Amino acid sequence: MLVVYYSSATENTRRFVDKLGFPSARIPIRRTDGELIVDEPYVLVCPTYGGGASISHQNTRPVPPQVIKFLNNAHNRSLIRAVISGGNTNFGTDFGKAGEVISAKCHVPYVYRYELLGTEEDVRIVREGLLANADKLGLIKQP
Ligand SMILES: Cc1cc2nc3c(=O)[nH]c(=O)nc-3n(C[C@H](O)[C@H](O)[C@H](O)COP(=O)(O)O)c2cc1C
Repeated sequence: MLVVYYSSATENTRRFVDKLGFPSARIPIRRTDGELIVDEPYVLVCPTYGGGASISHQNTRPVPPQVIKFLNNAHNRSLIRAVISGGNTNFGTDFGKAGEVISAKCHVPYVYRYELLGTEEDVRIVREGLLANADKLGLIKQP
């Protein structure tokens, strides 16, 4: 079970992913840190950075550019099986919007959204949900 994630300098997503306890790979923040290429099916955990676009119309890009770059690689994109998004309920209808965009573009289920670094309850639900549905989601690495 591989978790691929992006997390900015505030590291909320990293802390959530660490608590899940599955093998993980981080999408680099800086271009100079190179490119992440994955070789097995994964669930993507992505924070939302649209700035409440539905209300402000200021930023219509809820998915961080680093994540767009990662998914623009056709090989990486072919291995995504599900998406989970982080966000902040202050953003109302745009809470966790990045997951909706990625789900629609990559044709994978949006399985969970959580706030900031997630609660213990979020961690339990996601852990148990991924383990119980790994086969159905196609998250098992083929030999
Ligand atoms: C500039 C900015 C814009 C954001 N826009 C949204 C948003 O549109 N919807 C949402 O749910 N959360 C939004 N957030 C909240 C982040 O998704 C949240 O803080 C997340 O935990 C950040 O994860 P990270 O620390 O791993 O980067 C925004 C945060 C910032 C700083």
